[in-house]
Amino acid sequence: MSKRPRPLVAANWKMNGTRSSARTWGETMSVRTLSNALECDIVVSPPMPLFDLVFQALAQNEAISLCGQDCASRGNGPHTGDTSAEMLVEAGCRYVLVGHSERRRDHGESNAVVKAKATRAVTHGLVPIICVGESQAQREAGRATQVVRSQIGRSLPDLTSGIDVVIAYEPVWAIGTGRLPELAEISEMHDSIRNYLIRRAQTWAGDIRIIYGGSVKAINAGKIMRLQNVNGCLVGGASLDEDDFWSICITCDNLQRSHI
Ligand code: PGA
Repeated sequence: MSKRPRPLVAANWKMNGTRSSARTWGETMSVRTLSNALECDIVVSPPMPLFDLVFQALAQNEAISLCGQDCASRGNGPHTGDTSAEMLVEAGCRYVLVGHSERRRDHGESNAVVKAKATRAVTHGLVPIICVGESQAQREAGRATQVVRSQIGRSLPDLTSGIDVVIAYEPVWAIGTGRLPELAEISEMHDSIRNYLIRRAQTWAGDIRIIYGGSVKAINAGKIMRLQNVNGCLVGGASLDEDDFWSICITCDNLQRSHI
């Protein structure tokens, strides 16, 4: 298997942020990443109307990549309210979230739809961050591993390389609740995902980044990202504050430096 993948820390603003907060965040993070070359990739996923502003504020800083919160499963055309992968590319995105549990819940997105979206993303050169995770009831029924494997199996596009895609394990019950799974539970799930990928795509399965999301904060990020097979994190609430988010990025950078 290949060496430990370069970790990724992603900020998911969801439907939050103003023009003023977005500008401050972008400018502050731009200055910080330009004066500190981090050993991790940083991604920010603002709401669409703030894209341009964040892009300008980052001053085309290569250290931070713009990420869509979703993309359409189809190309340009008569689909009101949707945004295509090609439009995201033109807006300066390098990544896109697909299958976030809030989209699966609010918009009834199935694994098949998520796969179609991820496929369009890959086709247009975007890296899809495919989100998976079990509900509280599924975990209590002892079905967490099975549910997550099935989501991955059905939503992963056909790939030729492990750097084309990121998997975000986000237990639904941990998102926005302040409830973190036991570290052993996170570790077990990430190992299980890695083993599943190895069975499915032997040669490059080790290159796929498997990141954790759900109530990640500056105070718990270190112990989560220290786990083997946790290659970064997807941060919601704590990413809105540029100081909290920066501290998570620094933690990731320090951990990665201790491995290289
Ligand atoms: P949270 O959200 O960090 O606020 O729990 C994570 C996510 O939904 O990606």
